[in-house]
Amino acid sequence: MHSGSAPRTSAAAQAPAVRQRRKQQAWFLDFYGSAIGKKAVMAVTGIVLLGFVLVHMIGNLKLYYPDAERHLNEYGEWLRAFGEPALPHTGFLWIMRGALILSFVLHIHAAISLTLMNRQARPVKYQGGRSYAAADYAARTMRWSGIIVGFYVLFHLADLTWGNANPDFIRGEPYNNLYYSFERVPVAIVYIVANLLLGLHIYHGAWSLFQSLGLANPRFNHWRRAFAVGLAAVIVVGNVSFPIAVLSGAVDEPEHITDEARQLDGLPGAASLSELVPGVALHA
Ligand code: HEM
Repeated sequence: MHSGSAPRTSAAAQAPAVRQRRKQQAWFLDFYGSAIGKKAVMAVTGIVLLGFVLVHMIGNLKLYYPDAERHLNEYGEWLRAFGEPALPHTGFLWIMRGALILSFVLHIHAAISLTLMNRQARPVKYQGGRSYAAADYAARTMRWSGIIVGFYVLFHLADLTWGNANPDFIRGEPYNNLYYSFERVPVAIVYIVANLLLGLHIYHGAWSLFQSLGLANPRFNHWRRAFAVGLAAVIVVGNVSFPIAVLSGAVDEPEHITDEARQLDGLPGAASLSELVPGVALHA
């Protein structure tokens, strides 16, 4: 009898157990563990974030409507009331916020872990080579523009959603908040610069998402380029126009048509938006 038989038997017995454990890991975690999986997650969450930024910009174009104050404020309230009575007040908004936060977190997590994976695989930088230099440049641009846009979003929330970075903030009055925010020149400059960087980020992102999803055929490169440039340009032009419109006086000062705003202004005979616009109940 040889002494090696016992360990060999136990190793053989362990093998299926290890295989079993591997099998138990959910497929999406396996997928996300690979570089291809992380790139796909970056692309899909990028599409969700892009969709939001585009729709958000289109929604804000109400700033150019005649009677913009009423339209923009009603739009904010419509978003909060959407889905009622099937959903509670702000229910739909919170579902959207949940999807947005999840996409944002996954997008950043995938970006950081891809960077770390690349560093581990390639501790020494490539020497020369035009395509590598271009890929490196794009990756670096994405990294710093992404970080700055991330900080900008936090400031933007403090400015126009939570109100702690905006001394003239009135809850439920996006027109007022937006107007008095952009009236501050340094803040308007922050918005303009951040949105230009966002444009750069969107351009690179919209270009590379096809590659990440395995849809990049060189035959369609000109369409891909046109899509990336067009999307980035539309979003940047729209977003940068808002602070410029306020600073240049193209947008009227708020008239403060709601109860809360008139009280803050010390105006008598406070009216509510629900009186002025049938069917709208603000600050419900
Ligand atoms: C100059 C361009 C922009 C303007 C005028 C603008 C305006 C606004 C306003 C007025 C709100 C508050 C809405 C309300 O509470 O009723 C808001 C919320 C928000 N904005 Fe923007 N925004 C701009 C650009 C962006 C960009 C580029 C992003 C993302 C990269 C962004 C992300 C958000 C988010 C996440 C919220 C919070 C939505 C929520 O959960 O209620 N915004 N924005």
